[in-house]
Amino acid sequence: MRAVGLYRHLAITDPESLLDLDIPLPEATGHDLLVRIEALSVNPVDTKVRAPGKPDRQTPLVLGWDAAGVVESVGQAVTLFRPGDTVYYAGDISRPGSNSQYQLVDERITGRRPRSLAAEEAAALPLVAITAYEGLQERLGIDFEGGSKGRTLLIIGAAGGVGSMAIQLGKIAGLSVLATASRPESIAWVRQLGADEVLDHRRPLRPQLEGIGFGNVNFILNCADTDGYWDSMAELIAPQGKICTIVENKGYLQQQALKAKSITHVWEFMFTRPKYQTADMIEQHRLLNRVADWIDRGTLKGILRETLHPINAENLKKAHAKLESGTMIGKLVLKDW
Ligand SMILES: NC(=O)c1ccc[n+]([C@@H]2O[C@H](COP(=O)([O-])OP(=O)(O)OC[C@H]3O[C@@H](n4cnc5c(N)ncnc54)[C@H](OP(=O)(O)O)[C@@H]3O)[C@@H](O)[C@H]2O)c1
Repeated sequence: MRAVGLYRHLAITDPESLLDLDIPLPEATGHDLLVRIEALSVNPVDTKVRAPGKPDRQTPLVLGWDAAGVVESVGQAVTLFRPGDTVYYAGDISRPGSNSQYQLVDERITGRRPRSLAAEEAAALPLVAITAYEGLQERLGIDFEGGSKGRTLLIIGAAGGVGSMAIQLGKIAGLSVLATASRPESIAWVRQLGADEVLDHRRPLRPQLEGIGFGNVNFILNCADTDGYWDSMAELIAPQGKICTIVENKGYLQQQALKAKSITHVWEFMFTRPKYQTADMIEQHRLLNRVADWIDRGTLKGILRETLHPINAENLKKAHAKLESGTMIGKLVLKDW
């Protein structure tokens, strides 16, 4: 089958950073589905795994953790899907990715695809929807059924993929959503998705927050630089508030900055469940189905901004370069082989 992968971890400007390959077709066993990929999305994790500084590989590494496709065949333990079902999923960071014509994925982290969306629109959703949903509901304890109504959520780096979903989920929960964005086009995007207020993360946040009448916020979801915003998050969070970070820190984080206000700091890593095969990994199947229901009812909007086709090394290199520029708004998807 066709795939795009790498043997050497190179800068994206190197012609060999991503290669068109022909690799063996895998076979579904156990809880696995073999999915024929129709569309796939790119995420910063792709560029981080591809980045230079790691040893060369004997067998190719296939990246990509977002896909929409059709179930081709199933393992003997599969109960949730049948051949012919349309599905969407992010997959498992410890397994080969979605940059291939067919991919194996565990049924318990796979969702039914929204009926109202084309494959490319569906492929834009899974990884960021899982991150935003788990970040808000499971890590920050935000209640989507209304129990957190009227509280305030600050999303740092809100125009990217995760932020685009978190804004919408924050509004479903009835929160006041304050989103940061720095360019006219990213500001317009976060407003379109429902942000109540927009702050510019290129300027100090505190005076802007006070300027719109907020002394502090109950929840913070930081989708950008954890170290860079640490002091400012400690300052802006309300006493007994909660902070969720999703980007690995580079240095030490001063925990004492959170002590006086009894702040909870939590991490969200959307691959935790598949990577550690946690007993509750089926929650990602349920979560993706719930997101599909919300999409089909019009409660959530799709976040696709740009589609490239066909799926090949040339277009994936363009997509990685765009991600590495730090200017992504919503999602970029590749479709058709
Ligand atoms: N832990 C997890 O499970 C998990 C899951 C998904 C993503 N992540 C990580 O979370 C990060 C965001 O992912 P994503 O897919 O949402 O990213 P993305 O789509 O690439 O985000 C791009 C956005 O980031 C904003 N931005 C750039 N520099 C910023 C800064 N210094 N401060 C605030 N915002 C800034 C830009 O907004 P403006 O153009 O308005 O400046 C841009 O719209 C990545 O590092 C990714 O690896 C972690």
